Amino acid sequence: MNTYAIVLAAGQGTRMKSSLYKVLHQVCGKPMVEHVIDHIHELKANRIVTIVGHGAEMVEEMIGTKSEYALQEVQAGTAHAVQQAEKLLGDLEGTTIVVCGDTPLIRSETMAQLIEHHNNSGAKATILTTLANDPTGYGRIIRGAEGQVLRNVEQKDANDDEQKVKEINTGTYCFDNRALFETLKKVKNNNAQGEYYLPDVVGILQSENELVSAYVTNDFSETLGVNDRVVLAEAERVMRHRIAEGHMRNGVTIINPDTTYISADAKIGRDTILQPGTMIEGHSVIGESCLIGPNSQIVNSEIGNRTTIHSSVILSSIVGQDTSVGPFAHIRPESNLGDHVKIGNFVEVKKASIGEGSKVSHLSYMGDAKIGTHVNVGCGTITVNYDGKKKHLTTIEDNAFVGCNSNLIAPVTVEKGAYVAAGSTITKDVPESSLAIGRARQENKEGYAKKLKLN
Ligand code: UD1
Ligand code: CA
Repeated sequence: MNTYAIVLAAGQGTRMKSSLYKVLHQVCGKPMVEHVIDHIHELKANRIVTIVGHGAEMVEEMIGTKSEYALQEVQAGTAHAVQQAEKLLGDLEGTTIVVCGDTPLIRSETMAQLIEHHNNSGAKATILTTLANDPTGYGRIIRGAEGQVLRNVEQKDANDDEQKVKEINTGTYCFDNRALFETLKKVKNNNAQGEYYLPDVVGILQSENELVSAYVTNDFSETLGVNDRVVLAEAERVMRHRIAEGHMRNGVTIINPDTTYISADAKIGRDTILQPGTMIEGHSVIGESCLIGPNSQIVNSEIGNRTTIHSSVILSSIVGQDTSVGPFAHIRPESNLGDHVKIGNFVEVKKASIGEGSKVSHLSYMGDAKIGTHVNVGCGTITVNYDGKKKHLTTIEDNAFVGCNSNLIAPVTVEKGAYVAAGSTITKDVPESSLAIGRARQENKEGYAKKLKLN
């Protein structure tokens, strides 16, 4: 059976009170609608169509080719939104799952179970429902005397008895694709909001004696619909714990999951320990047996096995294995630290590569630099990379030794095995195996103190 998916993402999201389009608000560092689309991808659906309206270009830019798009010019309701996919999907045979772009916590496993239940029951429509302690704001599922699903009634249209119903519409459905588009034409907007409601399709099919069904999931948190920022924070909390739990089950130690933030797309090897205050963001990949934290932020970076990152920030960079960074280091984008490297406290590295076994242990700035293997960069050394207009490259070749508090005025090269005397300002290349001294000579005035006292 072919499977199609429609993601509803055209609503404005008034209740967010935001200039950012609702479904682009992030949960664990990823837009809500992207979570939904990524989960649908795991189902291997034949087609995915996202309905866009407000901020259409921004959504298409973020999601790219992961989905096809249909534009809903006026937001006349969820049924009207689905209708916009008719040109793309209307003629096809198969099962269509519809998911709201503001329910980022629904797992692909739950979607798969819903589809299976739907296909096995032979229903024309199946709603994913759950029991809510507080059903306020959600559509309620109205069942008949034998427990059969009759229809959905929205909060704003529900009478007192209907308001008491705890079983809610999660906003995810399965339909027979042909029946869906046929029935959408019959949906009316004579309700409290003057909108065309998608769940009305279920009631219409039922009244036409077609089989409709509900699949009840027992995890309410999975079906949270994010309509405002209070629920956004709740979704963040639930997803954060879900992600952390996944890593812990895979062999990662997380000392305090309440204060550790891991993006949905990060990968972490086993026996790695994450200490409190650690944020692993974007598509970061952390190796095995690493020690990360406390208080470290790693964004879109790769960290090798057995590496330690202590109270440091690492942005869009690659760090090798058995390397140690921090405390209090700042590794800025496009840096590449090799294996067995040591970056110590108060060191800033930017767009620099640092070869195997090299050390920059204290208080240095390495910007636009190419540093070979087994180099020692002394405390307080600075690459003077910027002349006010352009950035220039500093090269320090293998086994070189740069003394403390040196300025390397780029473009400049310290060749293999060369030495730079402490306190030097280097303006010319230093030849292989030589010593460069670029500082004023020391002069000692003998007996000077005594002379002062005499005057
Ligand atoms: C909807 C359901 C409700 C369910 C709840 C679950 C309807 C009428 N109600 O209510 O039964 O309990 O979800 O979270 O469907 N959208 C469009 N175009 C529109 C209107 C909405 O694309 O014209 C999109 C929104 O971007 C959103 C989704 O559809 O992603 C749901 O719309 P929303 O307004 O949030 O519906 P709810 O009031 O939450
Ligand atoms: Ca909603």
